[in-house]
Amino acid sequence: MEIISLIRDMQRWSETRRIEKKTIALIPTMGFLHEGHLSLVREGKQRCDVVVVSIFVNPIQFNQQSDFAKYPKNFEQDQQLLEEIGTDVLFYPEAPEMYPNGFQTAVEVEKVSQPLCGAFRPGHFRGVATVVSKLFNIVKPHVAIFGEKDFQQCVVIQRMVKDLNFDLEILPMPTVRETDGLAMSSRNARLSPAEHDTSLSISRALNSAANMVHAGERRAEVVIQGVRMILERQGGVRVEYASLCNPETLEEVKEISRPTLLAIAAWVGEVRLIDNKVIG
Ligand code: PAJ
Repeated sequence: MEIISLIRDMQRWSETRRIEKKTIALIPTMGFLHEGHLSLVREGKQRCDVVVVSIFVNPIQFNQQSDFAKYPKNFEQDQQLLEEIGTDVLFYPEAPEMYPNGFQTAVEVEKVSQPLCGAFRPGHFRGVATVVSKLFNIVKPHVAIFGEKDFQQCVVIQRMVKDLNFDLEILPMPTVRETDGLAMSSRNARLSPAEHDTSLSISRALNSAANMVHAGERRAEVVIQGVRMILERQGGVRVEYASLCNPETLEEVKEISRPTLLAIAAWVGEVRLIDNKVIG
């Protein structure tokens, strides 16, 4: 596996692969890799001739400096995992390489960035859309792979790709979970064993909502009430939002009459967790 940290070198590598008629998959990450990330890399290997994984903890998408500072890192382990799985290139730039002095451009995807996480993390999706567009111009992938664990992020990126005519395909992939149901996340490493246990109420609430709808409940308000009850029952979970919305527009719905996204963000101790499920 080649490790590339300069933008010019990455662009040249990708340009050469394109001249050789090789297809390129990109998996953008912020590192501290787990099985969720690795499932995306495996899909990339299936889909394309070569796979590039980027690791960059993007400072401009963190709305809290403390969250950025505490973001977990383990470069040696990430490198080993990517090597084992057969990654071709690890793109690993430093912050000044991505944001040199004088940097002043941003990509703003308007409507779909506003609800859910957008309402609680001002500037977050602007930071994501900006760094992802940069990565697309640097790595020039044919396919870029993202996890549905960050459902709104997938919607924002898909909208951006359409609106700005990026010549590539976005491939969303299902959420990988621990055997106990907790959605894998780099942030889970910051949960104590007791907090991990408490966090299981999130996936339980998603499943219970799916069951309610399966049993015939159509009123969003009632389903959300049930979700909040499960989340808040044992204490230790602070719900930021629990929302039923249209999976394409992310607009809130009152009635569940077609497949609907149930999205949850909740704090367990100092850790903010998100999860979602399409139900109905
Ligand atoms: P990060 O949180 O490292 O996630 C990188 C990719 O892995 C994202 O597409 C995310 O949705 C996916 N992923 C995370 N947990 C997953 C799980 N349990 N199952 C399946 N996929 C999962 O998302 C980001 O980084 C950043 O915002 C980024 C897109 C890299 C831009 O900075």
